[in-house]
Amino acid sequence: TSLPRLYSGMQPSADSLHAGNYIGALLQWKELQSSHDALFSVVDMHAITVPQDPAELREKTRRTAAQYIAAGIDPSSSTLYVQSHVPAHAELAWVLNTITGFGEAGRMTQFKDKSKKQGADATSVGLFTYPVLMAADILLYQTEVVPVGDDQKQHVELTRDLATRFNARFGETFTVPEPVIQKETARIYDLQNPGSKMSKSGESPAGILWLMDEPGAIKKKIMRAVTDDDGVVRFDRAEKPGVSNLMTMFQVLSGRSLAEIEDAFAGRGYGDFKKELVELVVSEFSPIRERATALLDDPAELDRLLAGNAERASAIADATLDTVYDRIGF
Ligand code: ADP
Ligand code: NA
Repeated sequence: TSLPRLYSGMQPSADSLHAGNYIGALLQWKELQSSHDALFSVVDMHAITVPQDPAELREKTRRTAAQYIAAGIDPSSSTLYVQSHVPAHAELAWVLNTITGFGEAGRMTQFKDKSKKQGADATSVGLFTYPVLMAADILLYQTEVVPVGDDQKQHVELTRDLATRFNARFGETFTVPEPVIQKETARIYDLQNPGSKMSKSGESPAGILWLMDEPGAIKKKIMRAVTDDDGVVRFDRAEKPGVSNLMTMFQVLSGRSLAEIEDAFAGRGYGDFKKELVELVVSEFSPIRERATALLDDPAELDRLLAGNAERASAIADATLDTVYDRIGF
């Protein structure tokens, strides 16, 4: 196809993706897949930059892939595969490591934050070179478009720098990719702590709305979500972060504007608003949970599908790696 090549991925670091991953990433992927030649990967090689239980990692990898498909990523028109099934990722990452400055890698703010939290001895060298592996992921496929969250923007900048540097030193080899930064309106915050992004590693279990949550759990979490005491459904990120976060979800899932939502709930309490939001979330997430569960009921079939997609990915990746090896004198 002559559609622009697109690459994105998520780590299999939990049993379920959450509302932030769904609204911030999957919905956008789903929309972009028809206008792009898209690859979506489950990045298990990135996940092992922090300790993982092997059996759990394998299961989380399958679960993440099943949720991609269940949420609408079409594995026959998009290439949906598991990163470790394509060895070229590790091979290109090694080459790119050799043209990345130690100081340059050390300036990555995500590494600085994570390693500070973990302490130097608990921090792996893999975590340090994580952005270089990410560059390899993107460059292997001659990617033009990379949808990412704000926090990954610096890593895409590094990817662009490495591509440009390699091309200048060894001859035109890589496409220099463009980031597509997620819209602010697609960012979802923790239900209990709306000053922080919803995250798999969030502190309060009640603050994370999982894509695989049963309706009862969805209801409980939304009804208990932190709001404020002025009782008015109005969007104001700074003054009313809890209500604004719920309104963002309402807007995305209902297709109604913030002004329409404010009008609809004028003079009514948060209870009514939350109940309607529960209905929206349950009707969006339940079919996804059911489809994912059905896919997971037949792991052999899911594994076959992922293997076939990994072959499609390998065909592209191996061609790039051959050129790279040739250029560098291997
Ligand atoms: P997490 O922080 O839960 O580990 P990741 O960092 O693995 O999530 O992100 C995977 C994808 O989901 C990225 O595209 C990221 O931008 C998106 N994402 C993660 N958290 C949120 C959020 N709270 N709101 C919107 N998008 C999010
Ligand atoms: Na496509």
